[in-house]
Amino acid sequence: MMKKIVLVVGARPNFMKIAPIYRLLRNTDNWHTLIIHTGQHYDERMSKIFFNDLSLPRPDLFLGVGSGSHGKQTAAVMTAFEQALERDRPDVVLVVGDVNSTLAASLVAVKMGIPVVHVEAGLRSGDRNMPEEINRILTDSIADQLFVTEESGRMHLLNEGIDPDRIHMVGNVMIDSLHYYRPKAEAAVILEELNLISGEYALVTLHRPSNVDQPTVFAGILEALAEIQNHLPVIFPIHPRTRKMIGTFRLGERITGFAHIRLLEPVGYLDFMKLMMHAKMVLTDSGGIQEETTALGIPCITIRENTERPSTIEFGTNELVGTDPVKISEAGLRILNGRAKHGTVPPLWDGHAAERIVDKLNDVY
Ligand code: UD1
Ligand code: UDP
Repeated sequence: MMKKIVLVVGARPNFMKIAPIYRLLRNTDNWHTLIIHTGQHYDERMSKIFFNDLSLPRPDLFLGVGSGSHGKQTAAVMTAFEQALERDRPDVVLVVGDVNSTLAASLVAVKMGIPVVHVEAGLRSGDRNMPEEINRILTDSIADQLFVTEESGRMHLLNEGIDPDRIHMVGNVMIDSLHYYRPKAEAAVILEELNLISGEYALVTLHRPSNVDQPTVFAGILEALAEIQNHLPVIFPIHPRTRKMIGTFRLGERITGFAHIRLLEPVGYLDFMKLMMHAKMVLTDSGGIQEETTALGIPCITIRENTERPSTIEFGTNELVGTDPVKISEAGLRILNGRAKHGTVPPLWDGHAAERIVDKLNDVY
């Protein structure tokens, strides 16, 4: 008998994680698959553009919760998602990542007796000031099946007392998407549009509250970027949170005053991948981008004090430098001087994680 599964998406990093799972589920006779979009991210360039780039269908349901404080947003997803589940009554709810929508949907489903499957379980930064860390710990503690991207995830879950039979090391669905869409990304013309030469620019993204909601930290990071742009152009697609904080802290003139920092609207998945693949270096506080640069072998400077993705450091090209402007610019100059960190790709980041997930779902449910 066909079972019904709901795939939950809400924010930018969710779309590329469900795409490979959706593609496989759609092509089996076992599952009737629905996509529910919470609307946590709603700007065209934070949401719709990804459905186009990833060839995903329109979500079956859009909850339209929008922005708000953590409590308000989480509650809004819970209220709307509960109504959706009452109507659709799926057999399984699948959530990815660590955003507020991930936790909110999980809580609702579990209390309705619907098993939750968490993809990208077990990651821990060890920093409970990070909202995502709370979302990770709570989602994992109530999920029925936990799919893990790297060994650290498995160890954390075991240490937290999760039954080993429910933990599955499957690799990384984000890297499935990277492999699958890479030829399309290679065909993107964004380098020509921006007049960029392959290997001769730095790519930057920032959006963690610990960086951009703190005026002194944010200003310090900008000083580091100012130093780097003296040596090569810096391309900076700006996340909406970051744009808002630039306004709040009146940093706009400061940034636009740097001749070689180029501010862009957030870019779509294919364009962003093309920008990553041809960058000399990437500077970021994103979770997913640490992984993608490791898979691509592109040097990554992570502007954070910790990471929940240590395999990108152990195996990959990632360097954790913190937020000290001197350390950030020194790391950039080391790469420019030919001393970039080389890396390998972590185990099972091979483009087949979704297959392992769907096989397991077929076994368990
Ligand atoms: C969220 C996730 C974070 C993830 C990031 C990916 C949580 C707690 N945070 O952070 O883990 O790394 O997404 O990008 O779930 N805004 C817009 N347009 C949009 C979306 C947001 O203008 O389409 C603005 C609003 O002012 C909003 C702010 O960005 O208040 C923050 O959005 P929110 O979804 O709360 O958190 P993010 O910082 O995007
Ligand atoms: N990304 C994108 N356009 C951008 C910035 C990021 O397509 O302008 C992609 C990036 O390649 C990765 C995902 O968005 O696939 C990561 O999302 P984000 O950094 O917002 O969230 P995090 O991973 O930190 O939760």
